[in-house]
Amino acid sequence: MRVVSGIQPTGNLHLGNYLGAIRQWVAMQDAMRAGDQCLFFLADLHALSQPIVPADLAANTLGMAATLLACGIDPDRSILFNQARVPAHSELQWILGGTARMGWLSRMTQWKDKAGRQGDSQSTGLFTYPVLQAADVLLYKASHVPVGDDQKQHLELARDIAAKFNADYGVELFPLPEPFVSRAAPRIMSLRDGAAKMSKSDPSDASRINLIDADDLIAQKFRKARTDAPPLPGTPGELADRAEARNLVTIYAALADTTPAAVLAEFAGQGFGTFKPALADLAIAVLAPIRDELARRMADREAVAAVLAHGAERARTLA
Ligand code: TYM
Repeated sequence: MRVVSGIQPTGNLHLGNYLGAIRQWVAMQDAMRAGDQCLFFLADLHALSQPIVPADLAANTLGMAATLLACGIDPDRSILFNQARVPAHSELQWILGGTARMGWLSRMTQWKDKAGRQGDSQSTGLFTYPVLQAADVLLYKASHVPVGDDQKQHLELARDIAAKFNADYGVELFPLPEPFVSRAAPRIMSLRDGAAKMSKSDPSDASRINLIDADDLIAQKFRKARTDAPPLPGTPGELADRAEARNLVTIYAALADTTPAAVLAEFAGQGFGTFKPALADLAIAVLAPIRDELARRMADREAVAAVLAHGAERARTLA
């Protein structure tokens, strides 16, 4: 097993990233057997596809690395690094640029969402973003790529690029990477809008739980989370048309490592006045230790920087 995945170091890590991706990274690292390898990286090159403030990107890269360490990524077992330190990512992106087709990239929903009708004024980096993502995983011949549901399309593109490259050049160079999407939390939604995913770029901070949020802020955000009036039903099927309620139940189940059915069996007939405080307590119990560990890690930034430097060295050798 060669596990590879990345995260953009823009803004703070939120509950969607944690439940949808990072927890799987840690689980896969912990399940590693002899000969397996895990590589996790901060996608600071991808961040350049949008306007950035250089000092902020550098600080966020370090902060996000510390957050991953606090979540349980162990640099003795996993290779943790930032993409910009490994030039082969950019080099392979250029090579794969000869294989990726304009039509494939034009169909990417992230491109369509972010560029909207203003495609011509966007950076070419935003358009070719998925080719760099393909390079990220193909570079290491990844077998498993743990991601949230929103990244599945980019991984399918990586498979298409790998297959076409192999066919065009008559080689068996790139194995097709397998997206590994969490079953418990494939897509955590915004707390303000059940139709939008929880996202670092949502202008409303109330839409997401950040891993650095204080206990009372977590409780307040869940208390103010948008919901409907009826009490919780007895089965998940009855939540089909209740996106906000379904999202909160999904979050509860993922945090408690149980199923939505089990959560509803416990809370059936209860209102959100009971459920939201229980959810907040659970979230605080899971997140507070991570937040404390993050503060400890951030007190020694040089140690975090050293982890990244060492990780990059190992990644460069493999790449
Ligand atoms: P990014 O930084 O947006 O998100 C990092 C990871 O978190 C997952 N995720 C979510 N999962 C569930 N619910 C949500 N609301 C939610 N929001 C985010 C994402 O699916 C992702 O797994 N392009 C990637 C970074 C990247 C990458 C790669 C990933 C660059 N190269 C190679 C995998 C392999 C991104 O912007 O993720």
